[in-house]
Amino acid sequence: MKTDNFADRAAEWDSPSKIEMTDKFVAALLKKVKPRADWKALEIGAGTGLVGLQILPEVKTVVFEDTSEAMLEVLKQKLTGSGNAEILHGEVFEYQKKDIDFVFSCMAFHHLPDIDKTLNHLHKITTENALIAVGDIRTEDGSFHHFEPIPHTGFDTNELASQFSKAGFEVLSAETYNVLERERTPGVIGSYEQFLLIAEKRDE
Ligand SMILES: C[S@@+](CC[C@H](N)C(=O)[O-])C[C@H]1O[C@@H](n2cnc3c(N)ncnc32)[C@H](O)[C@@H]1O
Repeated sequence: MKTDNFADRAAEWDSPSKIEMTDKFVAALLKKVKPRADWKALEIGAGTGLVGLQILPEVKTVVFEDTSEAMLEVLKQKLTGSGNAEILHGEVFEYQKKDIDFVFSCMAFHHLPDIDKTLNHLHKITTENALIAVGDIRTEDGSFHHFEPIPHTGFDTNELASQFSKAGFEVLSAETYNVLERERTPGVIGSYEQFLLIAEKRDE
């Protein structure tokens, strides 16, 4: 397993601003997707569960997947008694069953090195007409992560949508749901648009 880049941040992750940010994502998501009680869901980059724990009561199971052991440890402390949660510590490629009805992910896609490979894998592990909901930021100049090297400085949703289509999903919508204001460089505030993309699996 690679270095846990979130190890130092896990204990402090659930700050008011992160809670507000994830609540906005969940509100936008629930306007587009009505989770069903018989669904098995998978969250990519679940972190401490700020999103997934809100989806958990609505579905049969949530698989909380993340590469950060530290983030998942925080989640586990919140899960006592939640029998319908599964934890997957590792890359999403380690999930091999073909039973996922709904995939969701908030602010994790820009950390995934290979989007095409991820989407092809999602096509393999999902059921007919499965839904995918991805929230992330639109293309930015690298300042969102203080110019540290990360796999993606946001996404052009037209390009991301064609990647989804190529992998066998129909994109139903890709809309801005929030604009984050945060310090871009010392003393300068930047705006970062967050989008929610919803896609549905189509058979090959
Ligand atoms: C910005 S945090 C978002 C966490 C959570 N979704 C939230 O909104 O609070 C990004 C998360 O993606 C995880 N992550 C980074 N690379 C990953 C990968 N290759 N596969 C799965 N998760 C990854 C990190 O460990 C971290 O928990």
